[in-house]
Amino acid sequence: MRPFSGMKPLLLLFAVVVLSPVLARSLNPSLNDDVLGLIVFKANIQDPKGKLASWSEDDDSACSWVGVKCHPRSNRVIELNLDDFSLSGHIGRGLLQLQALRKLSLSKNNLTGSLTPNIAHIDNLRVLDLSENSFSGDVPEEFFRQCGSLRMISLAKNKFSGKIPESLGSCPSLASVNLSLNQFSGSVPAGVWSLSGIRSLDLSDNLLEGGIPKGVEGLNNLRGINLARNRFTGQVPDGIGNWLLLRSIDLSENSFSGNLPQTMQKLGLCSYLNLHQNTFSGEVPEWIGEVKSLETLDLSSNQFSGEVPSSIGNLESLKVLNFSANGFTGSLPKSLSYCTNLMALDFSKNSMAGELPVWIFAAGTEEVSLSEKKLSGSKNIPLSSSAGNALKNLQVLDLSLNHFSGEITSDIGALSSLHVLNLSGNSLAGPIPVAIGDLKVLDNLDLSENRLNGTIPTSIENCSSLTTLIVSQNKLTGPIPAAMSKLTNLQNVDLSFNSLTGGLPKHLANLPNLLSFNISHNNLQGELPAGAFFNTISPSSVSGNPSLCGSAVNKSCPGVLPKPIVLNPNSSSDSSTGEISSNLGHRRILLSISSLIAIAAAAVIVIGVIAITVLNLRVRSSSSTTQPAAALAFSGGDDFSHSPTTDGNSGKLVMFSGEPDFSTSAHALLNKDCELGRGGFGAVYRTVLRDGRPVAIKKLTVSSLVKSQGEFEREVKKLGKVRHDNLVEIEGYYWTPSLQLIIYEYVAGGSLYKHLHDGAGGNFLSWNDRFNIILGTAKSLAHLHQMNIIHYNIKSSNVLIGSSGEPKVGDFGLARLLPMLDRYVLSSKIQSALGYMAPEFACKTVKITEKCDVYGFGILVLEIVTGKRPVEYMEDDVVVLCDMVREALEEGRVEECVDARLQGIFPAEEAIPVMKLGLICTSQVPSNRPDMGEVVNILEMIRCPSEGQEEL
Ligand SMILES: *[C@@H]1O[C@H](CO)[C@@H](O)[C@H](O)[C@H]1NC(C)=O
Ligand SMILES: *[C@@H]1O[C@H](CO)[C@@H](O)[C@H](O)[C@H]1NC(C)=O
Ligand SMILES: *[C@@H]1O[C@H](CO)[C@@H](O)[C@H](O)[C@H]1NC(C)=O
Ligand SMILES: *[C@@H]1O[C@H](CO)[C@@H](O)[C@H](O)[C@H]1NC(C)=O
Ligand SMILES: *[C@@H]1O[C@H](CO)[C@@H](O)[C@H](O)[C@H]1NC(C)=O
Repeated sequence: MRPFSGMKPLLLLFAVVVLSPVLARSLNPSLNDDVLGLIVFKANIQDPKGKLASWSEDDDSACSWVGVKCHPRSNRVIELNLDDFSLSGHIGRGLLQLQALRKLSLSKNNLTGSLTPNIAHIDNLRVLDLSENSFSGDVPEEFFRQCGSLRMISLAKNKFSGKIPESLGSCPSLASVNLSLNQFSGSVPAGVWSLSGIRSLDLSDNLLEGGIPKGVEGLNNLRGINLARNRFTGQVPDGIGNWLLLRSIDLSENSFSGNLPQTMQKLGLCSYLNLHQNTFSGEVPEWIGEVKSLETLDLSSNQFSGEVPSSIGNLESLKVLNFSANGFTGSLPKSLSYCTNLMALDFSKNSMAGELPVWIFAAGTEEVSLSEKKLSGSKNIPLSSSAGNALKNLQVLDLSLNHFSGEITSDIGALSSLHVLNLSGNSLAGPIPVAIGDLKVLDNLDLSENRLNGTIPTSIENCSSLTTLIVSQNKLTGPIPAAMSKLTNLQNVDLSFNSLTGGLPKHLANLPNLLSFNISHNNLQGELPAGAFFNTISPSSVSGNPSLCGSAVNKSCPGVLPKPIVLNPNSSSDSSTGEISSNLGHRRILLSISSLIAIAAAAVIVIGVIAITVLNLRVRSSSSTTQPAAALAFSGGDDFSHSPTTDGNSGKLVMFSGEPDFSTSAHALLNKDCELGRGGFGAVYRTVLRDGRPVAIKKLTVSSLVKSQGEFEREVKKLGKVRHDNLVEIEGYYWTPSLQLIIYEYVAGGSLYKHLHDGAGGNFLSWNDRFNIILGTAKSLAHLHQMNIIHYNIKSSNVLIGSSGEPKVGDFGLARLLPMLDRYVLSSKIQSALGYMAPEFACKTVKITEKCDVYGFGILVLEIVTGKRPVEYMEDDVVVLCDMVREALEEGRVEECVDARLQGIFPAEEAIPVMKLGLICTSQVPSNRPDMGEVVNILEMIRCPSEGQEEL
C-alpha cells in the first residue's frame, strides 16, 4: 500500500479537495479535476494487486488510465470500469470531482461502507453497478433524489438492509434494477410497479414481503421479473397479463397463493415460468397451452390438483416440465409425446396412476422423473423397447416408488449419459447387471428397497464418478467387492439390510471423501478397516453384523481370526450348573478337543460366578467373625507350604505373599468391562484387593485339559517362584477341578500390541522405548530359559508395558499346565499367535525346545521395529512380516521397513542391526537361531558399539 508515496504536493490538496473542490481548483488551476478526483479515490482504497498502478498524479489527463474512459471531445472522464480489480476499503468523496461521469462500475470488488449520495454525481449517472461487494447498511432515501438519468442500477450481492427507498420509484428512466442477494425488507415501493421503462427487475433473495399490487399498471416494457426467495404473499394480479413482452417470470420460493390468472395466456413470449414452492392451488388451466414459447414450466411443490391438461402437448418448445410434489391425479396426457424437445420431466410425488409411456424414452429426453406414480400396469422398465440412440441423452432416470418388477436388464448400459439412476422402492428382482459398469458418468445410484439378489458386481469399479451408492434393503449376497475402494469420489454408501458376507476390504479406509458408510444388518465379519473415516464411524452404521469386530461395534478383535469360544457371562444360571458339570465327564470322550474347550469355557463361567461369590462371602465373614464353616479355605503367609483343608466341592485359593483379600464382587470379576484381554489360555480380568492393590486374574479356558490338582499346584508354584523385572509376577492361584484362576501382578500400561497397533494417535513409541522393550523382553526370556521354562506363547499382546515403559512379559510357561505338550493344542493357539509360531510346530519329528521362543522373539523384534503385525491381511494378499523384511534387506532397502512414524528420527546404525538380529532369530532351522543369552549380548553391543564391533 503506497497511496501517498511520491505525491507530497497532493497531501495538502487532498484535505482541501475534500473540503472544497472550488478552492482546490483555485489553488492549482492547472490540475485536471478528473486526475485529482481519481487520485483521491485511489488514495482511499486498497489495491493489493496494483491494478491502479498506471494512475499517476503526474499525468495531465486520466484518459489513458486503466479502467477510465473519456469523452472523445471534452476529454472528461465519462466511464469508470473497475470490475473485478480486488479493491477494498471505502469509496471516499474523490469521485465527486468527476462531473461528467455517466457510468460507475465497481462490481466484484471488496468495497465496504454504506452508500451516501456523495459517492458521485448521481444526477449525471446512467449506470451504477456496485454489485458483488461488501457494502452494508440502509440505502438513504436521498440517494435516488436526483436519479433522472439513471437507467441501470445494481446493488446485488452486498449486505444492504432496511427498506428499499421510496425514491427509487421516481427514477423515470430506470430500465434495469437489480437488488438481489441482499437483506432488503419491507414491501416494494409502490412507485416501482408503475415505472414504465423497466425491462428487468431482480429483487430475488431478500426478505421482502407484501405482494404485487392488484391494480398494477406500468411495467409494460418488462422482459424479466425475478422475485424468487422472498416472503411475498397474495395472488398474482390480472395486471400481469399486460406485461406482454415478458420472457421470464420467477416467483419461486415465496408464499404466493391462488390460481394462475387467466390473463397470463397473453404472455406469448414467455419462455420461463417458475412458480416452484409457493401455495398456488386449483387446476392447471387448459389455456397453459397458449403460452407457446414456454421452455421451462416449473410448478413443483405447490398445491395444484386435478389432471394435467392435455394442452400441455401444444408447448412444442418445452424442455423442462416439473409438476413434482403437487396433488395431480389421472395419468400422463398422451399429448406430451408432441413435446419433442423435452429434456427433463418430473411428475414425482403426485397421486397419478397409469402406465409408464414408452415415448418418454424415445424422445431424446435427458431427465425422467416419475417417482411415486403408481404405475401399476407396467412390469418391466421399458428400456429395451425404445430406440437405443434416444437413450444416449438421458441424464436422470428416477422411477422410484413405483411398482416395477422384473429384472434390470443389461440395456441399462446404453444410458451412457446417465448421472442419476433412482429405481428405489420398486419390486425389481434378479441381479444388479454387470452392465451397470458402463454408466461411466453415473454419480447417483439408488437401487434400494427392491428384491435384488446376487452379488454386487465388481464392474461397479468402472462407475468412477459415483458419489452416492445406495443398495440397501435388498437380498444381495456375497462380499463387498474390493474394487469399491477405487471409487474415490464416494461420499455416501448404504449397503444396509442385505445378506452381504465376508470381511471388509481394508482399502476402503483410503476413500478420501466418505461421509457415510452404512453396512448395518448384514452378515459381514472380521475387523473394520482402520483409517480416518472408519475410526469414527457411528455404531449404528455397523450394527447388526454379529461377526464384525473393532471399537465401533464395541468388540475387540481377537489377534487374527475369530475364535470358536464365545464366553457369555450372562449365561449363568444356578440350576444348570450341576447339570453341565456332571454331564461333562460323559461327553468328554465323545467330543473333539475344540468343543471340549467351548463347553469347559461355559462351565467355567457358571461355576466361576458361584465360586467367586462364595469366595467373597468367605473373605468378608472371615475378616469379621472368623467363621470356620466356609466352603473355601485360604493359604496366606510368605510360604507356599500352607496346605489348608478343602472339602470336596470347594476350591483352594493360594496367595504366595500377604493376605488373600478380595474386595471385589463376582460381578466385577466376570464383568466384561473389567476384561483386560483374552489369549489362548483364557480371559484376563482386572480386580482389586481389599488393600486397594489391583491384580489381574486369568481364568484358564483350557481347564478341562489341565493336570491333576497336585501337578497343577506344583507347576504354578514353580512359575510363581520366577521373579524378574521384565516378567509379570504370579501372585497366587485358585483351584477347583473345573475352574482355575491364576492371579497376576497388574501391569497398568496395557499390552505392547495396543501400543504398536491401536496407536491412540501421537502417543507412539520412540526408538528408545522400542529398543528398551526389545532388550527387556530378551532378558526375560533368557531368564526363563535359564530356569528351564519355555514360554511357548511369545507375542506382542503378551508383552505388557510397565509404568516406566519397561516391558513385562506375561503368560509364560502355561503350556506346562497341560497334561502333555500336545502339538495340536499348542498349534490351535495359532489362532492367537499366528505368525509367531516356529515352523517346527508343524513338524512332528522335530523336538520343540526353547528355540521356539527365539523364533517368536525374532518376529516380535521385527514387529516392534516395523510397527506391522506379523501377518497382515491385505486385499488379496497375505504379507508375512519376516519375509517382507528379508526381501527388503536383500534389495538394500531395509530402512524403508522401519515404522513410518519413526522415519527420519531413528538411528539407522541401531535399527538395521536389530532387524538383522530379528531375521537371524527367525531362521527356519532351530539350531541356527541364537540363544536368548547371546541375543541379550548382541543387543547390548548394538547399543554400545564401543565395547566391541561385531558385524551381523
Ligand atoms: C475482503 O476484505 C476483508 C477485510 O476487509 C477480508 O477479510 C476479506 O478476505 C476480503 N475478501 C476478498 C475476497 O478479498
Ligand atoms: C443480479 O445480480 C446478480 C449478482 O451479480 C446476478 O447473479 C444476477 O444475474 C443479476 N440479475 C439479472 C436479472 O441480471
Ligand atoms: C423438480 O422440482 C423439485 C423440487 O420441487 C426438484 O427437487 C426436482 O429436482 C425437479 N426436477 C427436475 C427434473 O428438475
Ligand atoms: C430416490 O428416490 C427416493 C424416493 O423418491 C428418494 O427418497 C431418494 O432420496 C432418491 N435417491 C437419491 C439418491 O436421490
Ligand atoms: C435370485 O432370485 C431369483 C428369483 O427371483 C432366483 O431364480 C435366482 O436363482 C436368485 N439368484 C440368486 C443368485 O440367488
